[in-house]
Amino acid sequence: LGDEGRRYAKIGLPELRVFQYIISDPGATVESVRERFGESETGIALSQLAKLGVKPSGGSVFSIPPQKINEIKNVLGERQRLLQAMSQGEAIRDRRSIEYFLRRGNLIVSRKHINRLVRINENGKASIKYIKESGTIGKVTPEILASGIWRKEGFRRYDLNAPVSARVSAVAHPLRQLMDRIHEIFLSFGFREMSGHYIESAFWNMDALFIPQDHPAREMQDTFYLEGPDMEIEHPEVIEAVKRAHEKGIRGYRGWEYAWSLDKARKPLLRTHTTVSTIRTLYELGQCPVGVFSIEKVFRHESVDWKHLAELHQIEGAYYAKDANLSTLKWLMKEFYGRLGFSDIHLIPSYYPYTEPSMDVVATINGKEIELGGSGIFRPEVTKPLGLHEPVIAWGLGLERLAMLFYGLDDIRKIYRSDLDWLRNFPMK
Ligand code: PHE
Repeated sequence: LGDEGRRYAKIGLPELRVFQYIISDPGATVESVRERFGESETGIALSQLAKLGVKPSGGSVFSIPPQKINEIKNVLGERQRLLQAMSQGEAIRDRRSIEYFLRRGNLIVSRKHINRLVRINENGKASIKYIKESGTIGKVTPEILASGIWRKEGFRRYDLNAPVSARVSAVAHPLRQLMDRIHEIFLSFGFREMSGHYIESAFWNMDALFIPQDHPAREMQDTFYLEGPDMEIEHPEVIEAVKRAHEKGIRGYRGWEYAWSLDKARKPLLRTHTTVSTIRTLYELGQCPVGVFSIEKVFRHESVDWKHLAELHQIEGAYYAKDANLSTLKWLMKEFYGRLGFSDIHLIPSYYPYTEPSMDVVATINGKEIELGGSGIFRPEVTKPLGLHEPVIAWGLGLERLAMLFYGLDDIRKIYRSDLDWLRNFPMK
């Protein structure tokens, strides 16, 4: 039994006590119940009773069909009986009642015991003769097996009673803790979380973002293309408009002026950025204004060093609204980093094929500048073909680089090194 369960086993469940009062006093009202039983027990009791068909009617006097009184008494009596039985340590096997009490919160708590019975089998018995009191071999390696030395030396006994040396701790990984914080921040901005896929078509990862098909970022050095059949493009109805934007542009813009290839767009790849989720989600939602975000993994053909990873997470997001502009974007970036405790963030002009203007977010670590991510306002060649007619401000920020700042790391690889010393002692923010 939990705290409440113990209490109600003694004094009676609120719904039982309230019910007894109501049937004994025909003038009972919600008000008089509240006076006698107090706010919180009245709340519990009335919602439980409502499920059994007992509701205040008309003036707030209760009406209960007389033929149901006994039935309700039985249900409540049985509930009370079970609680009392549990408080006396009796084992309750009625699954449905247990599930019911668990759903109600503090009445009962569950604890799980696992008993495992282990017995040696025939193979075990056959090999037991190689385990010797004086055995010295603790590990099976190809050399030990090939040399046959194990027959002579024997294996060391396995001491099941040896004390466990590892400290068991149940703290979330530092990166997870940071992700949770970020999640909270964007939810508090009123943004909704979006998600995408590791495997994407070049179309959604690049073409829909107006990245020309001969762009250097498409080459093997940056993108992991996948072997395998070409992909069906999600939402094929937009292909024509995207192709036209690349080849001929849109009203007032000339486009890239080359022959766009559907074959290239159908190639499967590991997404290089989560901006693919942003553009597809805005198209799918077709809602304005709207803010979206995600914290998900991307893949890049990078050589790994102190500030580069080939698998990393991006804090992605966008705000699509009539009033979205460069000031909104600057404010959002400053506010986001500010809430994590970093006010020393700089914004510098940058370039992405899909934004104009574009800005990078930069911080300083150990006197060295480090780029935290990119942002900008989507170009009309990106938004118009997808039917998005208001400005979109968007960003894609590196999670692990932020973690470097957050945890004071001078090497990004440390995050994934599973160094127990660090995992146990990282500075908590
Ligand atoms: N997608 C860019 C990157 O991966 C970041 C970015 C997102 C830039 C949105 C502008 C707008 O670096």
